[in-house]
Amino acid sequence: MSIPALIFRPYDKLVKITLAGKEFEVPEGNMLLRAMQYLSPEEVACGRFCWNEECQYCRVSFDLGEGTQVRAALSCKLMVQEGMRITEMAQEIRYCLRELGLKKEEGK
Ligand code: FES
Repeated sequence: MSIPALIFRPYDKLVKITLAGKEFEVPEGNMLLRAMQYLSPEEVACGRFCWNEECQYCRVSFDLGEGTQVRAALSCKLMVQEGMRITEMAQEIRYCLRELGLKKEEGK
């Protein structure tokens, strides 16, 4: 199934991010959860996400590269940035991205 272009904010290029150590390219200028939908369209669309800071199912931990601070955020409200590294993801996100072959987190 193709992704309806209208769900993404206009973008000129893709930016590189890593999810659990694996590199992907996603549309710049979009929220991280939307970027994840770019990678896994149907699964994220069917996820139990409110897209509105209420459900907390989109929680992630991320940094912006080697030596930068690890922060927690809601991916529905977090703008993607070049070099963003997402190290931990809520279970609902992991489930929706299962086709991407991400490594399991330590102890899970
Ligand atoms: S999708 Fe519900 S808090 Fe982000």
